[in-house]
Amino acid sequence: MKDLLRLRTLISTEVESLLNKQIKMESYNSAAYLAMASWCDRNGYDYSAGHFYKQAEDERAHMLRFFKYVCDMGGTAISPSLDNIPQEFNSFREVFEMALELEVKTTQSINVLADKCFKEKDHVTIEFLNWFHKEQREEEYVARRCLELFDVIGEEGTGRWEIDKAVAQVTYDSEG
Ligand SMILES: [Fe+2]
Ligand SMILES: [Fe+2]
Repeated sequence: MKDLLRLRTLISTEVESLLNKQIKMESYNSAAYLAMASWCDRNGYDYSAGHFYKQAEDERAHMLRFFKYVCDMGGTAISPSLDNIPQEFNSFREVFEMALELEVKTTQSINVLADKCFKEKDHVTIEFLNWFHKEQREEEYVARRCLELFDVIGEEGTGRWEIDKAVAQVTYDSEG
């Protein structure tokens, strides 16, 4: 009976805690992408800087989407504190490797959250998460295609200059 009388929130304490973990991760992603934008900017990769500035904004929007959901469901959304944002990278390629790594980790983390919701039969949150599953399809696709440019175009000569320009052309069409 105690469980049925959960007056304050729709979500369980465990789901709330995983959602807050995801808020922190999206926030970290936003900050990490901003650092990548800065690195690309100061190393002459203008198109990639633009790409990462946009990614940083997208990640902040993801964070807010989770944040608002927790609040709307009667939970306590926690504004995250962040540290250990990498500011330096050894190479242009390493920036894109890290971007893909972030996206893979994010997909996995959202899957863990969804698994927990399935166990709890929290279909409301499962439905909420569907948008993110689709978003991750795009996020991983774009990160992977960008990284592939390093092999497809090659870094020799004016390669990195070409790669930088090609990054701006990478898009994902989920219907095509
Ligand atoms: Fe995200
Ligand atoms: Fe992302």
